[in-house]
Amino acid sequence: MGFLTSRLSTRTEAYRLNHEAYAARIRDLHSRRSAARAGGPPHMHVKHLARNKVLPRHRIELLIDPGSPFLELGELTGEGKYAGVSPGAGIITGVGLVSGRPCMIIANDATVKGGTYFGLTCKKHVRAQTFAWQHRLACITLVDSGGAFLPDQANIFPDDGQFGSIFYNQVGMSGDGIPQIAVVMGPCTAGGAYIPALCDEVVIVRGQGYMYLGGPELTFAATGENVDAESLGGAAMHCGTSGVTDHIAEDDRHALLITRNIVRELGQAPASRRRQEPARPPRFDPAEIYGVISRDPKFPTDTREILARLVDDSEFQEFKPNYGETLLTGFARIHGYEIGILANNGVLFPESAMKGTHFISLCCQRDVPLLFMSDVTGFMVGKDVEQAGIAKHGAKMITAMSSAKVPKYTLNIGASYGAGYLAMCGRAFKPTAMFAWPSGRSAIMGPEQAAMVLSLVRETNLKAEGKSWSEDEKEAFKAPVRKIYEDFQGAYNFSANGWIDGVIDPLETRGTLALLLELAARVPAKKTDFGVFRF
Ligand code: COA
Repeated sequence: MGFLTSRLSTRTEAYRLNHEAYAARIRDLHSRRSAARAGGPPHMHVKHLARNKVLPRHRIELLIDPGSPFLELGELTGEGKYAGVSPGAGIITGVGLVSGRPCMIIANDATVKGGTYFGLTCKKHVRAQTFAWQHRLACITLVDSGGAFLPDQANIFPDDGQFGSIFYNQVGMSGDGIPQIAVVMGPCTAGGAYIPALCDEVVIVRGQGYMYLGGPELTFAATGENVDAESLGGAAMHCGTSGVTDHIAEDDRHALLITRNIVRELGQAPASRRRQEPARPPRFDPAEIYGVISRDPKFPTDTREILARLVDDSEFQEFKPNYGETLLTGFARIHGYEIGILANNGVLFPESAMKGTHFISLCCQRDVPLLFMSDVTGFMVGKDVEQAGIAKHGAKMITAMSSAKVPKYTLNIGASYGAGYLAMCGRAFKPTAMFAWPSGRSAIMGPEQAAMVLSLVRETNLKAEGKSWSEDEKEAFKAPVRKIYEDFQGAYNFSANGWIDGVIDPLETRGTLALLLELAARVPAKKTDFGVFRF
């Protein structure tokens, strides 16, 4: 193996300013996370606790093994999207160890609008199921929800990917032998009642968990029948009469203990099929990444310096180092797990696209997971590259990346624009997981380029009408376009919309990837069938 070296000097002014700028970004990340972790407003916490219920993050702590990591997905989904709703969209999703077995945990947060589902809550729940399905993880749903947030029905009810997909996925996952457990710890009304009903085993808390298609008020309004919540859908009725639930718990803690015992009896968890070498830290301090990332988007970041601070022992078996140099490709290890890395170091040329294609096919042949580290303004344009067939070479890379059945991870570390974003395993290519650093940004093109293209279109139309515009008018036209693109491209807009699984600190990257690789190691290998390559 070759070792990455570093030419970085930590004593320069540029390093100091970059580091300062990035540290400010990290403080911003942590304040957003604090808002997510707080959940609903204080008066809802008081109400929740007064009902003798445990808060959702505390429930998760009690459910998972002491010291277990919790790989959270969609932590900032919904941020700023719904008035009065904290980031997270009223649901917490992530992977933790329960009785020694990795499980996907999906927990409603009843302090956020009664734990109701917005469009993005559905999207986040469905994403958690998809991740669990891919990794064959048992799913535990801690139900405490008023069902649909009624004003948002267009984003909850009619389409694929919304509430109904939760049931669809449950059925499909069950057919694939993936265990599902529900713990009814609060209301579970209307369509929401099907989530536990479609599970293998259901725990319900006495005097606190209620499951019914229509609550007491609706029942009275619809039929005139006067019935209290306990006899309509309480624990004793469902465990003793209807058979809709299986285990009665006396309180939240008891329910979580029963759940841990259920997980213990799920049978043999799939074992890891990959060899993990001893983990070794990089030779260069990962904290220096803050000072490596250019604070000014006009100046590129040297991705090689980042890699040297990310991979075990800074060892990188580089593939074709002297060819297609704007795409770095090579084998490395993260916490002892082998991974094939493609990292941009400039725009994509025909040679870099061909090299990427070759490297992806090597990883598929060898069953090595892929990491796409995206920092690319796109593919090169111009007569030379068009004549060199950049379209067919880019198409080859997209075919290879899209066909690859090994686990694929995408990390947006800087710019990720246009077809470059797509070719580096953008969301449409279903990466196994996709994260961004706070410096990550993605759009069809950069703000300046978008402003320029649209102003050129306008200028052509003006000319056709025999008109012209002044430089000031042109700038007045371009400024709002630039602003829209700047607001759109940020990593937090991507996480708020659920277009990525989360924003992580560069210092969390090794740990996050290690957890992902550990989960992937328990999934059987899949054969890749490549599509037709254009030569
Ligand atoms: N749609 C929209 N908003 C809802 C809602 C729903 N289904 N259920 C609750 N909310 C809102 C409330 O208006 C309140 O909003 P506010 O904070 O702006 O005042 C907030 O969520 C909390 O509700 P609240 O009733 O104060 O909390 P609670 O903990 O005492 O009760 C529920 C929570 C879910 C049990 C109760 O609100 C309820 O029964 N909701 C209706 C459930 C239902 O019938 N759903 C059917 C959907 S298909």
